[in-house]
Amino acid sequence: MISIALLGFGCVGSGTAEVLTENKKIIEERLGCEYRIKYILDLRDFPESPFGSLVVHDFNAILQDEEVSIVAEMMGGSHPAYDFTKACLEAGKNVVTSNKEVVAKFGVELGEIAAKNGVRYMFEASVGGGIPVIRPMMTDLASNKITKINGILNGTTNYILTSMRDDAKSFGEALGEAQRLGYAEANPTADVGGFDTARKTVILAAIASGKLVSTDNIHIEGITEITLADVEAAEKLGYHIKLIGHAEVKDGKILALVSPMAIPSSNPLGRIDDVFNGILVNANMVGEVMFYGPGAGKLPTASAVVADIVDVIAKRDFAPTPLGWVSAEASDIADFAEYYCRRMVISAAGNYVTEEMTETEAAKLAAKSDVISVYRVL
Ligand code: HSE
Repeated sequence: MISIALLGFGCVGSGTAEVLTENKKIIEERLGCEYRIKYILDLRDFPESPFGSLVVHDFNAILQDEEVSIVAEMMGGSHPAYDFTKACLEAGKNVVTSNKEVVAKFGVELGEIAAKNGVRYMFEASVGGGIPVIRPMMTDLASNKITKINGILNGTTNYILTSMRDDAKSFGEALGEAQRLGYAEANPTADVGGFDTARKTVILAAIASGKLVSTDNIHIEGITEITLADVEAAEKLGYHIKLIGHAEVKDGKILALVSPMAIPSSNPLGRIDDVFNGILVNANMVGEVMFYGPGAGKLPTASAVVADIVDVIAKRDFAPTPLGWVSAEASDIADFAEYYCRRMVISAAGNYVTEEMTETEAAKLAAKSDVISVYRVL
């Protein structure tokens, strides 16, 4: 009998309990062994929930119980999620997580601690919600050099932008709806400010390069400045405005950024709407592959958390593969000023798309008196 502990019983935590229970029979048949949820750690009590009797408030009850071999961390935020993760890995417990903030900040250290202790640290649910993307990139694309990633990585902002375009909703109305549907982070600034996309972008870039870049060292723009007029003007030119996480690895240097971009309607990312995410990955042998699916939400994200739990159990007799990431040095990061792409210009004199130009040239263009907005074009 495998004993599992869940840290956090919010949207993803309760979804994980639901997936583990609802699909228990088929998962156990596939694994050839039984499991149980032994504890759920939360500050609150849930007397109405069928899982209410499993709730504990003291993390040490989980840490000190040798029967618990897998811990699913779904608390969100850096602390105490990082501290609990570290303690569990050091105690020889496998940890799976949906917490992109912790992976993006502490992935190098936690990967090393896991390897040292012969356990696994897994985070399929941290990027793309329910979309299998981390594992396929790490395993199925292992024969490739990944050269470029472009992703719609945040369900909340994609939902908001779709709602503005299709229903002419205001930014605030669309955000409120996304929050009600359980897509948004507790603090929506992480979504609309682009920080959640940034965390996911550096995780994907680390898979591609082996180097984890700090989100403090990348250019991040959110969606708060996008107006309905910009969205409508883009549509007339044949572009959809989407929040994109971009990463490329060239000559050993990583260039990563988060920005609203004008996506040509012929590009597959242009057709990804609502809470869905899409990730286009370019690799030197396979060419271009795309991952698509629900990027946020209770059961889709829980599906990915449970996939990691299943992977841990299925490979319990094998030595874990170290993550092998290192922290990116300043010399590993490309100069953002050199980022080169076409620009969509919204101006009083008319709207148009330019030839490719650098950030420095684009800044000069944006400073012209008749120019209202300038968007990077994918
Ligand atoms: N707030 C995130 C999003 C949740 O909207 O994509 C999933 O990571």
